[in-house]
Amino acid sequence: MAKVHVFNAGPCLLPQAVIDASIEALKDFKGTGVSVLSISHRTKEWEATMNECRALWKELLNIPEGYEVLFLGGGASLEFLYVAMNFLEKKAAYLDTGVWAHKALKEAQGLGEAYAIACSKDKNYSYIPKGFEIPSDLDYLHITTNNTIYGTEIREDMDCPVPLIADMSSDILSRPVDVSKYTMIYGGAQKNAGPAGVAFVIVKKDALGKVSRYLPTMLDYRTHVDKESMFNTPPVFSIFVMNETLKWLKSIGGVAAMQKINEKKAATLYAEIDRNPLFVGTAAVEDRSLMNVCFVMAPGFEALQDEFMAFSKERGMVGIKGHRSVGGFRASLYNACSQEDVEALVACMQEFEKLHK
Ligand SMILES: Cc1ncc(COP(=O)(O)O)c(C=O)c1O
Repeated sequence: MAKVHVFNAGPCLLPQAVIDASIEALKDFKGTGVSVLSISHRTKEWEATMNECRALWKELLNIPEGYEVLFLGGGASLEFLYVAMNFLEKKAAYLDTGVWAHKALKEAQGLGEAYAIACSKDKNYSYIPKGFEIPSDLDYLHITTNNTIYGTEIREDMDCPVPLIADMSSDILSRPVDVSKYTMIYGGAQKNAGPAGVAFVIVKKDALGKVSRYLPTMLDYRTHVDKESMFNTPPVFSIFVMNETLKWLKSIGGVAAMQKINEKKAATLYAEIDRNPLFVGTAAVEDRSLMNVCFVMAPGFEALQDEFMAFSKERGMVGIKGHRSVGGFRASLYNACSQEDVEALVACMQEFEKLHK
């Protein structure tokens, strides 16, 4: 099969070492003679994997004492509800930076008073709102650090006068994070942290149990803290692959090393978008995401969009179609995407430019 370069927005590319270890475990999990698909989650071999995975999260993100890492089903979308159930008592604010942020807000509005503290919908979410006042009486402020669809990112851990809760689905593990600035961080694993089927939650334990509403057992984070994410059957295979992904990340030097690699990949592609007269970026330059690079055909070249899509496909580019609400192209440069993949895309853009000069 010809070489392909995978830029899917999620589920996304995983490192080859992770795929190989997963194939092995499908046949025989840790020499038990049992496939990881059939292993009981109550065995000591499985518990060791869970413990290793939890410990790797804590090590890679330097998670301080007092926080717990949970692995839950339901994706990031169910976390939207969990967050409001577990933290919304009187009032919460949401930074509305895109479709996912808006969905999180909507879920909270079904349970109580929640509002958009600032919103960038006026320019199709192409920038991150700044300079908004954060009232001190909020239960929490919710942010989405990376807006997968629009290619904008909040790359710094903000100082926040109220508990800060972040959806980091699409930029977790791409850089070091000061976890102590957040009450909770969560996301679906299927970008940098593994395959689809499991969500990660990093939560400050003493912030739990403060709401007065009835919390159904499964929607109470304390259930999962108490039972170490094994209250019910966990998504075993997804967690196995997540653990392998974290082992791979550690082997290449962890999040600080990853950040440098990610900065170089993004700089390479943005430089080409800015240089090449056929293309133009859609996100505000100061808010550009390192993870999802969104671009369209430049004014005057719009008619070439389908042609470039076909041209790049022939050259092995996979998954660069932009989200339908932005159009154009989106190359997702998650952790497992290499500098070589990015250079192949750049070469393709340059070749296309020569054809149309
Ligand atoms: C930033 C962000 N939040 C939430 C979601 C929803 O995740 P899930 O499909 O795991 O519910 C996505 C999916 O792409 C996302 O990019």
